[in-house]
Amino acid sequence: MSDSTHPVISSTGLFTPEESITNEELVASFNAFVDKHNAANADAIAAGEMDPLHHSSVEFIEKASGIKARHVMAKQPVLDPDIMAPRWEERGNDELSMMAEIGVKACNQALERAGRDPKDVDAVLCAASNMERPYPAMAVEIQNALGIDGFGFDMNVACSSATFGIQTAADYIRAGNATSVLVVSPEITSGHLNWRDRDSHFIFGDVATAVLVESRDNAPAQHWDILGTKLKTVFSNNIRNNFGFLNRAAPENAGGADKLFVQEGRKVFKEVVPMVAQMIIDEADRLKIDPQSLRRLWLHQANAGMNRLIAQRVLGHEANEDESPTVLDTYGNTSSAGSIIAFHKHSEDLARGDTGLICSFGAGYSAGTVFVRKVA
Ligand code: COA
Repeated sequence: MSDSTHPVISSTGLFTPEESITNEELVASFNAFVDKHNAANADAIAAGEMDPLHHSSVEFIEKASGIKARHVMAKQPVLDPDIMAPRWEERGNDELSMMAEIGVKACNQALERAGRDPKDVDAVLCAASNMERPYPAMAVEIQNALGIDGFGFDMNVACSSATFGIQTAADYIRAGNATSVLVVSPEITSGHLNWRDRDSHFIFGDVATAVLVESRDNAPAQHWDILGTKLKTVFSNNIRNNFGFLNRAAPENAGGADKLFVQEGRKVFKEVVPMVAQMIIDEADRLKIDPQSLRRLWLHQANAGMNRLIAQRVLGHEANEDESPTVLDTYGNTSSAGSIIAFHKHSEDLARGDTGLICSFGAGYSAGTVFVRKVA
């Protein structure tokens, strides 16, 4: 592969919302909602016509998931027991939309770090698990805000959107159709989370990441070679969200809990861990990389237990924080952005020649691997 068709990661960018919710704050609000709900339905509960709701617990959340806090775009309404959902002023068509706003911030950081002028970028892929609207594409709005002359489109592969975006961008480079592509993942997951659901109310957080994928001959001296990318999908209903434009046809179906994130967490855990571990090992074999020699794994940040097991199967021993860093504790599950945050925050210390793996997995099921090697 010549330098002009060899894809590399030139830089990354991160936008973190200012506001953050601790487990203690989250559980206090959830339990206030439960108490209000049970008091309001006391007669039905006493008559056995309705089951009471149960309190959540800080200890459970931390033990089951490893999450201690999450950033959100709108803290107050999420914690208000009478709302328990993000709320913001609807923006006009002449204003930058919210996903575009945070996406642009992450992109600007990536461009700045690479010393790249937006006019030299060819394409913007907005890869995220939820889009603010069907069209015009978020990517086109971000492209316009950044002043990029080229093209953009949105893609959604849930928690694997960013790695699918990286492979798509890499393929543009490999085919000679582009030399510089931004993959941006504004994940405002607080909007798809059911904050009233005890099983999942603690899972998600908001963030935006950007990855600048370029041809090697176009990249700054400090970059990461993309050694190989691999994608996989296997249909499953175990993580599902039925929200969509066709729901409008049946208003009685439009507001239910199934129009938000729903999962069978235990099944996901049991089925996705072996699938992803095997995928990593097979892909390492194809690329002639000894998986046990990987210097660092930047894994999808959904659950500390899943990452512990996957890392152990890949590396052959229990991974420490240095080998498999966690950002889940302060960010929660940020869907497709999680492995990119981990890479962004924990990659500068690696030495020239070190090999690592960015890996995502989630709804679909979907999984993506991006093996990278530090060049300088
Ligand atoms: N507070 C206190 N207790 C809770 C609780 C909460 N918020 N939520 C559930 N529980 C209780 C349950 O009632 C259950 O009690 P029981 O055993 O008496 O019936 C017990 O805790 C276990 O519940 P379960 O849902 O089976 O927990 P879990 O150990 O499987 O952990 C997840 C739940 C979601 C954290 C875990 O399954 C997971 O992370 N799965 C991976 C899926 C994932 O991350 N998906 C994201 C997309 S990639």
